[in-house]
Amino acid sequence: MTTICSAPGKIYLFGEHAVVYGEPAIACAVELRTRVSVSRSSSILISSDLGVTGLDHEIHPYISSAIEKLGSPDVSVEISSDIPVGSGLGSSAAATVATLSAINIEFMLGHSKEELAGIAHEIEKIEQGAASPTDTFVSTFGGGVEIPTRKHLSLPDCGVVIGNTKKGASPKKTAKLVKQVAQLREEYPEVIDPIIKTIGSFARKGETLILKKDHISIGKLMNVNHGLLDAIGVSTLELSTLVYAARTAGAYGAKITGAGGGGCMVAITDLQEEVSEAIEKAGGQAIITRFTSNGVMRE
Ligand code: PMV
Repeated sequence: MTTICSAPGKIYLFGEHAVVYGEPAIACAVELRTRVSVSRSSSILISSDLGVTGLDHEIHPYISSAIEKLGSPDVSVEISSDIPVGSGLGSSAAATVATLSAINIEFMLGHSKEELAGIAHEIEKIEQGAASPTDTFVSTFGGGVEIPTRKHLSLPDCGVVIGNTKKGASPKKTAKLVKQVAQLREEYPEVIDPIIKTIGSFARKGETLILKKDHISIGKLMNVNHGLLDAIGVSTLELSTLVYAARTAGAYGAKITGAGGGGCMVAITDLQEEVSEAIEKAGGQAIITRFTSNGVMRE
């Protein structure tokens, strides 16, 4: 028998970096998915774009850990993904969550979604040294989520375009950027603390704006959020170039998503083709997608 599960990636609408200092953030699942096919086999086999291996913590760390955490059943696991790797879109969480879920169903292990989200977070902590539960939580349950409360929110009712700078992608990027902001804050607490507080205020306002379907105001606040992420040093020329290209093409708003320092930006818009074209023209890789309430699911 074979079980196929898929799990989504995510973007931050508001609040990355400030969330590290206890401020709220809003993360939303997007319809870019990692699909994992699991079959019973005589030995453990993991196949992806990275190669074909057995249990291998160098090439397939998250999948190897997922198999081990669920008692190392003899499985063949095949992974394919729409999500750029190491770019702040939660690619490792989606692969981990989809693998855990497919093994759970195929071998009738009986874990609940909550348990699987918890195991996926444990795996991210082991493989990355530190990890917030955001990516694994959003990938498991889908939809919009306020962090740290994990309150489920509705989703903005408009299109999404992601712009990938194709630069600086690395699983170690988040830790480096978080440290960089911490150093700046230590040097200039009286300057940086109010910025962090203001970034936190966007998520507080965001929930009502989403309910009102006020995409213009959400976009405006995303733009201010981007300016403040730039102010604390996590934007790059490439990221800001894509952000301005998206806005000029008519996006409601555009900002970095995730740690910054390269990786991806996100725009919300009802002019997806125009925004996508502008991002490509500005040197980025554009990905047209949408918000999704679907978390991990069986296909
Ligand atoms: O780039 P990502 O998706 O790993 O997001 C990082 C978000 C931060 O707020 C910078 C760090 C965190 O753990 O919340």
